[in-house]
Amino acid sequence: PELFLPERRNSKGWDLADGPTLAAIDKARGAYRDHAFTSAPLIADHTPDGPSEPVQNPADADDVVGHVTWATTGDVDKALDAACIWDVPALERAEILNRAADLYQENFGPFFALMAREAGKTLPDAVSELREAVDFLRYYAAQAQNHDTPPVGVFICISPWNFPLAIFTGQIAASLATGNATLAKPAEQTPLIAHFAVSLLHKAGVPPHTLQLLPGDGRIGAALTSDARVGGVCFTGSTDTAQMIRRAMAKNLTPGAPLIAETGGLNAMIVDSTALPEQAVRDVVQSAFQSAGQRCSALRCLYVQEDIAKGFTKMLTGAMDELTVGGPWDLSCDVGPVIDDEAQAGIDAYIAAAKTEGRVIKQLARPNAGHFVPPTLLRVDGIGEMEREIFGPVLHIATFRADGLDRVIGDINASGYGLTFGLHTRIDDRVQHVVERLQAGNIYVNRNQIGAVVGSQPFGGEGLSGTGPKAGGEEYLLRFLQHETPEVED
Ligand code: NAD
Ligand code: ALA
Repeated sequence: PELFLPERRNSKGWDLADGPTLAAIDKARGAYRDHAFTSAPLIADHTPDGPSEPVQNPADADDVVGHVTWATTGDVDKALDAACIWDVPALERAEILNRAADLYQENFGPFFALMAREAGKTLPDAVSELREAVDFLRYYAAQAQNHDTPPVGVFICISPWNFPLAIFTGQIAASLATGNATLAKPAEQTPLIAHFAVSLLHKAGVPPHTLQLLPGDGRIGAALTSDARVGGVCFTGSTDTAQMIRRAMAKNLTPGAPLIAETGGLNAMIVDSTALPEQAVRDVVQSAFQSAGQRCSALRCLYVQEDIAKGFTKMLTGAMDELTVGGPWDLSCDVGPVIDDEAQAGIDAYIAAAKTEGRVIKQLARPNAGHFVPPTLLRVDGIGEMEREIFGPVLHIATFRADGLDRVIGDINASGYGLTFGLHTRIDDRVQHVVERLQAGNIYVNRNQIGAVVGSQPFGGEGLSGTGPKAGGEEYLLRFLQHETPEVED
């Protein structure tokens, strides 16, 4: 069929360098600073009436952001029974998803407040997250015009807390744009953002039987992904959980049911002796510590060529001193809290073990209250020492000799993960050499390695980091559609 791609542009977002814009945004989010938000299952023809629980602000124990009524396994059953595919032309679906994108943009005030209060997001992070969510809605709405195959049926979308709006919305947008009956299970840490977003999608015109919401923990996810009525699963989260879901699906779902799994990483960056040090230091700091290191794309292990390592480390620790760690209402805040007490305790224990081994090069001061982990730099011999992803503002640094580049590449590949990778060099042949050998989904050269842009930088990993296809890319929607069977002549 002839391809039809309606004109689409990424959202302009908001320019925080512009004083009046910044003041207007801060005022709009400030209006929701004490607002009591709510969340509950949104199931067609059924109103759950369980008890509600408070949702806490990770930066401020005194701030109750709102209340959530959790879904039960009985609700899962009712939602699956009520689920209906969205059987209207793709163009009609696209119009509604584009309307939802407009509603998202208009509601920037409550979204920025929710992201600060429920997820601990700084204002710049919240702005780029809303922008990405809007871009996903418009991008998949446009891409769906290229396909005329039927949807898979009932699709389960399970998302993490670290992009409670962008990834939550991206999964749903892809599933809805292709006409699937969509059941969204947000992370248990961020049910309020999810509820607000789904309410806007319903308001835009997405039918309630086509998009349902089930706030709950892993038990609700497990109930959904082991039900034979389910046609496919879209999951973003840890590699361990993805493996559990794959096993549950293999046991209970139709053979061949698609699983799109976008998972964790042990992401590295190599800085050689020809790199521009100021630029490389800036990009390292952003990649490792922005979003308090709570990005799957974040830099975890930095390799610096030994000839420049001493000076580079000094510049890096100096740049860390410039970071402001604090609550997201402070406009000068660079690094906010980690998501909850459990995350904080786990990362603190990891750093404490490194301290006993004398490997801490630098750690900033910790704010007095709230779930903060201050940015920390640890010495390692190489990525092989890192057994798992530490999901917070912890950067490991190692050195390599001029003739040891291929060994470093081998070690990074041997980790089994392959999400993002960064390279700083001014030698063109070296770029070619490394890119040809390094196994990672997204490779960035002479820039930071976070913040992939929908439509122009499709995002996703290899090996333990994901199954593909990449989010925000042209192949993504194919997994939400039934396979086209080629016609065979007798
Ligand atoms: P997680 O795996 O603990 O949880 C993710 C989601 O899975 C949550 O909604 C959770 O309730 C649900 N879940 C838990 N157990 C389940 C089960 N047995 N069956 C079904 N669902 C279940 O991950 P998290 O801590 O929320 O998120 C952080 C992780 O996500 C990190 O590893 C990070 O690297 C990864 N991540 C990856 C990407 C990517 O695009 N590759 C993006 C963001 C985050
Ligand atoms: N897509 C997000 C990034 O690139 C995870 O940082």
